[in-house]
This record gives sequence, C-alpha cells and structure tokens, in this order.
Amino acid sequence: MGHLLKNPEYAASLRLIANKGPDGFYKGKLAQDIVAAVNNSKYNPGKLSLKDMAGYVAKQRTAICGAYRVWTVCGMPPPSSGGGAVASILGMLQYFDLKAMKPNSLKAVHVILEAERLAYADRDKYMADSDFVPVPLSMFTDPAYLKQRAHKISLTTAMKKVSAGKPPVASKLSFADGMTPEFPSTSHFVIVDQWGNMISMTATVESAFGSRLMVNGFILNNEMTDFSMIPERNGVPVANRIVPGKRPRSSMAPTFVLDQDGRVVLTVGTPGGNSIIAYVVQAIVNVLDWNMTMQQAVDQPHFLTRGGPVYLEQGTAITALAAPLEKMGHKNVQIRTLNSGLHGIIVHYGPNGVRYEGGADDRREGVVRQ
Ligand code: DON
Repeated sequence: MGHLLKNPEYAASLRLIANKGPDGFYKGKLAQDIVAAVNNSKYNPGKLSLKDMAGYVAKQRTAICGAYRVWTVCGMPPPSSGGGAVASILGMLQYFDLKAMKPNSLKAVHVILEAERLAYADRDKYMADSDFVPVPLSMFTDPAYLKQRAHKISLTTAMKKVSAGKPPVASKLSFADGMTPEFPSTSHFVIVDQWGNMISMTATVESAFGSRLMVNGFILNNEMTDFSMIPERNGVPVANRIVPGKRPRSSMAPTFVLDQDGRVVLTVGTPGGNSIIAYVVQAIVNVLDWNMTMQQAVDQPHFLTRGGPVYLEQGTAITALAAPLEKMGHKNVQIRTLNSGLHGIIVHYGPNGVRYEGGADDRREGVVRQ
C-alpha cells in the first residue's frame, strides 16, 4: 500500500510517440526493441518482423448497429464480435416483454440465457476478421432473421440443442466451429467531456501481464490466443483461424445506445473475455427495460451463458435460480465469480439541459469521477 511505482522507460516511450506519432511506435527504436523481445524470448520466441510492424495500419471502421425496441444499439464491428453479438442478443430479446417480467426473475433470466445461447452459436461460427473472411454481418442485425431465431425460445423450457443458424444471404464459404480460448486482462472506461463528446474504450493485453514480455516500460499483448487454436475441422475451415496479417476475433463491446432522435442515451463497456457480450447486454436491459440507474445496473448479480455452462454469480441472490433453471432444462448450471468491470454513463435530456449519470464496477477498481 502507498508504494509509488515509477516507470521512466514508459514515460520515455510515450514521449517518443507524442513527438513522432504512430511512426514512433511502428518504426525506429520502439519497433526494433519489440521485434527483438519477441524473437529472443527465452520461453516461446515468435516471428514478428520489422516489416510486420511497419505494415500495421490502425483502421477506422463503421460501427455495427442493431435495433432494440425504440433504440438503436451501436458497437464494434469485426474483427470484434462484440458489437454484432450484443445486437443479436438484444435483437432477439425485443420480441419478449421483459418490462412485464421482474428484473432477475426466473422467466427473464431464462429468456436472456436462451437468446445468449443462440447468438453465441452464430458468433462462434461466423465472426472473424472480415478483411479475410466473408462475415455474414446481416445475421446479427437483420430483424427477420432474429425474429425467426427468437421463435425458437420457449418461455417454459430450455432448448435441447442450439446450433448456429444459416446466414440470410447465401455465403459461398461454410465454416466449422472454432476453438478459441478466453483469458483475462482487459479494462474499459467511458468519458464525456465538457462539449458532450463521448468515448467508450476497451483495451486488452488478453491475459494477465499479456505475453509476459516487457519492452521499454510496457507489456506486449498476447492477442494471438484470441484466434481459434484449430484451423479446420474435417477439412472445413474455421472462420477465426490464424492467417498472416489477420486480426484475431475479439469480444470487446464498447457500446452506444441512441434514442429515436439519434441522441446517445447510454454508453457502456467492460472487460471479461467473451463474457463481455453478456455483461453489456445485461447492463443495457437493466437500464432500458428495468429503469435502473447506471450504478444499479452495474451492481446487479450476473447470470450468463456463452453456449456451454450457465454461470450464476457466486455470493449473490441469483444463485437461488440454480435449481429452478435446471428444472427448466438448463444443463450444467455453475456458481462462480463473474468478474466484470462495467463502466457506463446514462445521458438524461431535460428542459434544463443534459445530465450525465455514471456507474462503475467495484468487482474491479471502477470509480465514477465528475
Ligand atoms: O479482445 C478480447 O475479446 C479479449 N482479448 C478480451 C480479454 C478480456 O476481456 C480479459 N479480461 N478480463
């Protein structure tokens, strides 16, 4: 406690980037040191080259947006699966009257879990870097397709088996199910400035201490593990397989919700590996359907499934649903910690102007500052 950690090497790296812009990172000393650290790693040397570094381009992409009742939900497109999967779950949930169900009630939790199972199946099969594979993006936002998926959900019984759907627009490539591991270490913040500009940003080094390689004061990420560990199944390619120059599939889901006038009413995001998608959906439903404050929305006990087991957050009231959910047919219900790091802002528009209301997750080190 109270230890002042100084990192002058990092300060020097930031100064270099401030002075030279992106070239300060992708070319010159920093790039050389990164390439040397990767290639000379004692444990698992990689093949990163100076050409790879110099050739990297940060791309500006168009957000993926889907409808949720009267709102529009916009998020990060491929190579993140986050925006599409959030839109897909909400796009199915809009066919259920969650407002009429009590927050965190058995019925509401069941419906949300079922929508998650359907959306994660599509996400797992089809989402990858769209610069390399044709991602059928419309299946994550198309109301007709999502309605048809939502019709598979019964209010009383869990689906026996869930598989990915067929893209509404015929795709020449068919994909096999991948195998992508998920690790911790990410953070998310949201900021609004005095002019009303907003940023919702998730950053990740994938697992704690990333690749465990430190260069000039910062840790190198371990994002390769966001690729599928297998390239194909029975000769059928996996969409998220490793290919030179391709970006791994992420679950990051920095999200903006817009009202009918196109004004931002909510921005939210979180770390949590591929649980990010479910945490973000839950926070949005808590605010939009159940009128919670941002802090209440963040504090609610978590429940989620990514297609396999159903997780209920340990030490919370939601664990009482374990037996009733099993009775409805949910398999492998587990109680465990669910370590989100949600941060969000609700924007209230009133006659006297705009008011911002923040919420932050004390499951990690979240704080709200004004
Ligand atoms: O981009 C992704 O989806 C992962 N690298 C995120 C990992 C993560 O959130 C871990 N945090 N706890």
